[in-house]
Amino acid sequence: MPSVFIKTYGCQMNERDSEAVAAQLVARGWSLAKSENVADVVLLNTCSVRDFAEQKAIGKMQNIAADVRKNRPDVVLGFMGCMAQSRGRELIDKLPDVDLVLGTQKFHRAADYLDEIISGARKKIVDVAEEQGSEATIREHLLNGNAKKSAAAFVSIMQGCNQHCTFCIVPATRGEERSRTIPDIVAECRELVSRGVKEITLLGQIVTSYGKREKRDEWQVARDAAVLPPVTRHSSPVTPFVQLLDAVHEIDGLERIRFTSPHPKGYGDDLIDAYARLPNLCESAHLPVQSGSNRVLKLMHRGYTREKFLGIVKKLRAARPEIGITTDIIVGFPGETQNDFEETLSLAREVEFDNAYIFKYSPRRDTPAAEMPDQVPQKIREERNQRLLELVNEIAARKYEKFVGRRVQILVEGPSWKNPARMTGRTRCNKIVLFDGSDRHRGHLMYLKITRAGSFTLYGDPAIVNL
Ligand code: 5AD
Repeated sequence: MPSVFIKTYGCQMNERDSEAVAAQLVARGWSLAKSENVADVVLLNTCSVRDFAEQKAIGKMQNIAADVRKNRPDVVLGFMGCMAQSRGRELIDKLPDVDLVLGTQKFHRAADYLDEIISGARKKIVDVAEEQGSEATIREHLLNGNAKKSAAAFVSIMQGCNQHCTFCIVPATRGEERSRTIPDIVAECRELVSRGVKEITLLGQIVTSYGKREKRDEWQVARDAAVLPPVTRHSSPVTPFVQLLDAVHEIDGLERIRFTSPHPKGYGDDLIDAYARLPNLCESAHLPVQSGSNRVLKLMHRGYTREKFLGIVKKLRAARPEIGITTDIIVGFPGETQNDFEETLSLAREVEFDNAYIFKYSPRRDTPAAEMPDQVPQKIREERNQRLLELVNEIAARKYEKFVGRRVQILVEGPSWKNPARMTGRTRCNKIVLFDGSDRHRGHLMYLKITRAGSFTLYGDPAIVNL
């Protein structure tokens, strides 16, 4: 049977899609290759969020075509995911060595298409069509038989995004919002827990919009079938997303729940209340703010103001004082003045994010912002990036330092890639902790004492936890 190597660019949703494709192939008897140099099939799962990510994947494919294909002409090469979706056949025109272009609603077709190409039945396949029901197709996991068995798993709950932020290509690459049903998601989570999973991250492009577009009766059926807890437990109206959190929280043996990525607009009182009510919902939130300037937020079509955002942070911290808050920020959005940028700096100072992912604005095809006047020169984008990075690092260093001497719970994920003698895990507030451990710790929830803080990393010692 053939072997496959999948390289993933971009977000956690892409990681999850790659895992599902790998699991699908493993279920058919394929093996996972250690590198592109020994694989029969090489797939690049791509990201389109910034031009840089696209160029990286194209460059990689060019290298593979030149090196790997030269020595082994039968190697099958494919693009999948966001760039495959947005560029389609154009990718084969540009890179004639590519055999397969698989869109974001077609991951479940990977094994069939690869069989057809390998058997010679078809030479090239491009499938970037929409597919009804594709949201429920990302469900296979690699836990079984995987040497790196981990106690943390990702579950895809929805696909697509209807928010149409003016900078963002995602609605074009991932399509309209579509959600799986609660019983379907809960069944997958239960199965994972029965196989030893202790932490589940619910995934989607805009998870707080989960279930907003689905017909009400499906949810009613679920409630009648007693899969959902009764609504009367809540004081205010509850969004489908919070209903899902409630349902997943009922699963015995599931110790930790996370989700990503949400939209700040989805942080209504019901979700804040969920943080207060549900002990297994981890005290961490990734809240992409994008800008601290109301003028820019409006141009971005974000649907909230700086004040609204600050209000959410305040309520979250009131519900869970220990909560770790991270964010995404774009610098150099078209029309962003020095004054607007100062507002972003001041917001970062006010919130004190635990970490912020900073992106230099990158014009994307067919997005309104790419056509907006006053595009910010590259040099200024870089300067603002640098300035904000320094501030974010300085604040984070202070916050990490505060953990020294404290006792934290971590879920051990595996050896650190930098130093395999060290094990790595995450706190409930999503901070990485390293400690001298061994493989027997893998998959365990354990307590340790933090002895020192590094750059976005804590170091702990399990031996002195009670001292
Ligand atoms: N340019 C720069 N950053 C972008 N992001 C999305 N689109 C763009 C773009 N055109 C960033 C946003 C988003 C993160 C995943 O990527 O901050 O939250």
